[in-house]
Amino acid sequence: MLVLGVESSCDETGVALVEVPQLGTPRLLAHALHTQVQMHADYGGVVPELASRDHIRRVVPLTRAVLRDSQRSLSDVDVVAFTQGPGLAGALLVGAGYAAALATALNKPWMGIHHLEGHLLSPFLSSDPPAFPFVALLVSGGHTQLMHVRDVGDYELLGETVDDAAGEAFDKCAKLLGLPYPGGAALSLLAQDGDLRAFALPRPLLHSGDLDFSFAGLKTAVMNQWRKLGPDPSPQARANLAASAQAAIVEVLVAKSLQALKVTGLQRLVVAGGVGANGPLRAQLNAQAQKRGHRVHYPELSLCSDNGAMIALAGAMRLQRGCVPQAGPGCFEVLPRWPLASSTVVNPSGQEVQP
Ligand code: KG4
Ligand code: ZN
Repeated sequence: MLVLGVESSCDETGVALVEVPQLGTPRLLAHALHTQVQMHADYGGVVPELASRDHIRRVVPLTRAVLRDSQRSLSDVDVVAFTQGPGLAGALLVGAGYAAALATALNKPWMGIHHLEGHLLSPFLSSDPPAFPFVALLVSGGHTQLMHVRDVGDYELLGETVDDAAGEAFDKCAKLLGLPYPGGAALSLLAQDGDLRAFALPRPLLHSGDLDFSFAGLKTAVMNQWRKLGPDPSPQARANLAASAQAAIVEVLVAKSLQALKVTGLQRLVVAGGVGANGPLRAQLNAQAQKRGHRVHYPELSLCSDNGAMIALAGAMRLQRGCVPQAGPGCFEVLPRWPLASSTVVNPSGQEVQP
């Protein structure tokens, strides 16, 4: 069985084809991605209307590329999976409309997938896949959550950010330092030349005793330090501030992830979402995990940011568990705000589908 996955929740259009065995891990046959980062950089953030228009332009050529690379044709596709939420409503509607139309034309069923479920299952496509249950640290531009993952669709929210997401904190600090949007990777690169002890920045909620995060105050602290440096800070001071900001974010993420493992008594941690590509975060999690006998699993670097492969994979893993996709023509809807811990997929007829 083949599942075509379509991702369009924010500023990446992704399409992928995954093969689903009866048992065992689904296999990625091909995936294609177009990032709109360049297009939005001029505006310092994602412009929803431009994002939607660009998804429309990209999704058909990307599907063609995936079929070509996997040497399959549309008639080989058995199910079309798409990101149903959360995300930008207009952007989601492009993927949903496309998936529903394509599936209807092919006379095949289709299914809506939770974007964050895609992220947290994405390490199953890596060379070192996890096993259930595990703790998932979801760290993206829009989300920072710790989840207890018992199986596909069985999620318990352990803690989340009360204000900015970790990626947002990276992006806002990067913007203050004059780096282009999205600044996470650029800030991390700049930080390589800096001294992480140069600035004493807060570690918000580090000792709160719960598993929640808060990053808005950190951005303000970085802004205050940046202003104190005057109108023309030295390149070294800039790198030092980047390193100090990164260290503060990473320290909190690492501490809370370890705390989540302790609270749940679980041994495995999955790190997913764009910030999961961060080098120091990976290094510190790996070092701490090794000390404590934990295992840390990541998606392949190319699948850390938004992509269609994780959506096809989530669809495939749901199908393996008996989830029934939507058959026949029908109306579709998107869910721009959709808590993952609700653990259900609402199909386009409004029925809840338990895996
Ligand atoms: O998951 P993602 O691609 O998109 C969503 O937000 O859903 O995550 C994007 C976020 C951005 O905030 C970006 O700055 C951040 O991930 N990011 C990084 C790194 N690479 C991407 N943050 C820190 N270090 C990185 N290497
Ligand atoms: Zn994402």
